[in-house]
Amino acid sequence: GDGPAVSAPGTSVSSVSHPITLDSPEFVVDPQAHFTWLRTHAPVYRGRVDSSLVDQDVWIVSRYADCKSLLTDDRFPRSPAGGPAIASGMPDHLRLLTESMIYKDSHEHRRLRRLVAKPFTPRAIERLGQRVSELANGLLDDLEARDVVDLRTEFALPVPMTVISEMVGVDEADRERFHRGVQGLFDGMAGPEQEADHDEGAALAEFVRELIERRRSVPGDDLLTGLIQAEEQGERLADDELAAMVFTLITAGYETTYNLITNAVVTLLDHPEQLALLRADPSLMSSAVEEIVRYAGPVQSSEALTAAEDVTWHGRTVPAGSLVLPLLAAANHDPEVFAAPETFDITRGPNHHLGFGHGEHFCLGANLARMEARVALDALLRRNPGLTLAVDREQLTLDPVPMLVRYRSLPVRFG
Ligand code: HEM
Repeated sequence: GDGPAVSAPGTSVSSVSHPITLDSPEFVVDPQAHFTWLRTHAPVYRGRVDSSLVDQDVWIVSRYADCKSLLTDDRFPRSPAGGPAIASGMPDHLRLLTESMIYKDSHEHRRLRRLVAKPFTPRAIERLGQRVSELANGLLDDLEARDVVDLRTEFALPVPMTVISEMVGVDEADRERFHRGVQGLFDGMAGPEQEADHDEGAALAEFVRELIERRRSVPGDDLLTGLIQAEEQGERLADDELAAMVFTLITAGYETTYNLITNAVVTLLDHPEQLALLRADPSLMSSAVEEIVRYAGPVQSSEALTAAEDVTWHGRTVPAGSLVLPLLAAANHDPEVFAAPETFDITRGPNHHLGFGHGEHFCLGANLARMEARVALDALLRRNPGLTLAVDREQLTLDPVPMLVRYRSLPVRFG
């Protein structure tokens, strides 16, 4: 069926019904109205998430200062309960994903992250800029010959998908298969009535293992080969850890970024004066991308944390064992930190948003995502001074995917 229409954010607090269920249709229609209510009336709120992965109470934290301090507070580790709680809804063959750095703390986390940090440093990322530009322009060369194009699937998706696949070492022939598997998983997460597609999930786990075996026998010049060699040199990455790493890097590496590029185009088209400003002064591109991450970032929360002990703040006691969710997208619209938070302002500065998280788990790929968005948007806008939506604005709908802001499609006309 059709997804909910999107309204101006944060406008109608009267649309908030209780208890708040993240990912309910009411929530997805206007998350910012919910965020405003939460920040104002219930900064520590016991709500619910109803996805097939987490179907339980979660304590929602929505103010900027609280989200930020939570993400560096040892009383809220990711393990032991965070990973397994999520895994309890997962098919068996996907439990290995909890071996990802995302669900680890302190030295276990550092050990895994260190192994893959090098290709993500600012210098390493700058070197990829030329390749991203080639990809973006190559796609546009073909797409611009057509009347109406779904920018989401035909442009925003293939740019980061190709980049991360080349980095990690996924052969071209396998990318479509990987993407189908990931979409199957996300669709399964979208709600209890949509059972996770176990066949897709199983195929995905099997695919990742196959990929690893192939790189073991035929090494390449890629991250996966590097990990396998590190393993042989005594880093002792367990098989499940290696599979979880590959899965995490690829999935985090394109799913988020293609939604960022899509959301960027929607947001700029929604704000013609800001788009005109950017066209007139392309040196604003970096700060424009930051503002897009703040205002319309694709990731609305960090992974769930777990209270290791009873913790009381703002008069509420979160019992030990509870899941706690820092709502980054709510923090990013906190008027205590951002003047006129509902104003989209590509010149905003400083702009210390939490759209890439905070603390030890700060997004590994932030520099890559920023560069890809900059380069892709720059090519698109320079080549198409008359870019427009090819449908009415109300026809752009969001997928009800947990904690992701993801449009179903983005039909545009070039020009
Ligand atoms: C972590 C957002 C792109 C890899 C995170 C976190 C956020 C985030 C909010 C923190 C999660 C948490 O605290 O639980 C985004 C957004 C992106 C993006 C909004 C694009 C617009 C990428 C890319 C990669 C990537 C391109 C490339 C591989 C990761 C990894 C982590 C992570 C591996 C886990 C880091 C850790 O646990 O230490 N990301 N991300 N992300 N991101 Fe990204």
